[in-house]
This record gives sequence, structure tokens and C-alpha cells, in this order.
Amino acid sequence: MRIIRNATTLGLIAGLGLAGAVAQAAADPIPTRQAIMSSVGAAAGLGGGMMKGEIAYAPAAGKAAIATMRAASLSFGNFFPAGSDKGNSDAAAKVWSDAAGFAAQLAKFTAATASAAEASGKSGPADLDAFKEAFGPVLGTCKSCHETYRKQK
Ligand code: HEC
Repeated sequence: MRIIRNATTLGLIAGLGLAGAVAQAAADPIPTRQAIMSSVGAAAGLGGGMMKGEIAYAPAAGKAAIATMRAASLSFGNFFPAGSDKGNSDAAAKVWSDAAGFAAQLAKFTAATASAAEASGKSGPADLDAFKEAFGPVLGTCKSCHETYRKQK
């Protein structure tokens, strides 16, 4: 009886510990924003690859690249709460010291993905030229934000 009860208690403690760890991981915004940017990098690889002719263009693939960019641009800005400059992050201190400038870069990114999503329509840009016209401006927003708001290596 005693052994069983102790085992139950131990199980409870272990369970609580795990729940605590999960809660902590969920509360850290750094891995979330980095994973969102990884998806942006992957979509840039797909879209850029098609633009360069390294990957065959398909409207559905164009649509996927644009949809990923659109979703990322809408969610990314939610994961920079005060204090999240500390930790394993490449975000520059300027994200917080110049929040208005960062918001302006984010707005450019969001505006570019909105136009691209509109051009994408139901089945994606019909041909490579239409895709380039829609996707090019999205790729044009990476550098100016990274230059100021991402740590230079
Ligand atoms: C509004 C600003 C902004 C825009 C626009 C932006 N990025 Fe980023 N990006 C960042 C910041 C800030 C980080 C660092 C995040 C961190 O480490 O906390 C980052 C990190 C990354 C990373 C590394 C992700 C990782 O695994 O840590 C990649 C890849 C990336 N960006 C690609 C892109 C591409 C491609 C574009 C353009 C399509 C783009 N970004 C547009 C701000 C931006």
C-alpha cells in the first residue's frame, strides 16, 4: 500500500514537473519567432528557387510560398515582448529601443505579403512572370529589416 502510494506521489511530482517545463517552453517567445523566420527562409528558398529557374514553377507552389510569407508577416510581430532581448536570440537591441522603426519594417513586410496574396488568387499566380511580380517585393523587405533589427555576424 505504502509503496503504491509513494509511487503515485512520485508520478504526480514527475507529471507536475513536465507540465511546468511545457508551460515554460510555451512562454518563451524566442524559439517561436525564430521558427516563424525559418518558415520565411524556407518560403524564400522555394519562391527564389522558382524565380531563378532552379525549381520548376507551379502555381500551387507559388501560392504556398506566398501563403507562408503572409502568415509569417501577420504573426511575427507578436513575439517580441519586453525582456525577450535576453536569451539565445539574434534580434538586435534596436527592436526594442526603436520599436516604431521596427513596426515600420514589419508594416512593409505585411503590405508586400498582402499584395502578393491578392495577386495569388485562388490557385496561385498563373505563370512565372506573374509570380515574380507578386513575390519579388516580398523578398525586397528582408534586407532592410535585418540590417537594423537583426544582429550582424
Ligand atoms: C520586420 C523585420 C524582418 C523582416 C521583414 C524579415 N526578417 Fe528575418 N529576422 C528578423 C529578426 C529580428 C530575426 C532574428 C530573430 C531572433 O533570433 O530572435 C530574423 C531571423 C531570420 C532568420 C533566422 C531564423 C532562425 O532560425 O533563427 C531567417 C532565415 C530569416 N530571418 C529570413 C528572412 C527572409 C528570407 C526575409 C524576407 C522574406 C525576412 N527574414 C524578413 C527580422 C525580419
